[in-house]
Amino acid sequence: MPKITILPLERVIEADDGSTIMEAAHEDGLYWPTTCGGEGICTSCACTIEKGEANLEPMGRGELKTLAEELSETAVRARRLRLACQARVHGDVTVTRRGVRPAEVSLLTPE
Ligand code: FES
Repeated sequence: MPKITILPLERVIEADDGSTIMEAAHEDGLYWPTTCGGEGICTSCACTIEKGEANLEPMGRGELKTLAEELSETAVRARRLRLACQARVHGDVTVTRRGVRPAEVSLLTPE
């Protein structure tokens, strides 16, 4: 089962082979930033692939198009960015995405 290490949270989660990074995070009870709900159109979920890029399915045209609307295609590749809602894992990866946290912790929850 592929393992995803999420930084800076320093959490290691297991993913079903072929699931997206975001699906695996949700399965593990984590909140992952999104504004489109995982439709691949907002870039809020974008993360940097620190290790294991070859263990992800190659970036599809739609994912690259969405990311390239924010940055140039060259910058997307140079910064090793992927959309967590689109990138499917087939082996261990390490990613960085600030804002990922346990879902039950909410700044909006009254005390
Ligand atoms: S959640 Fe919107 S692009 Fe991934």
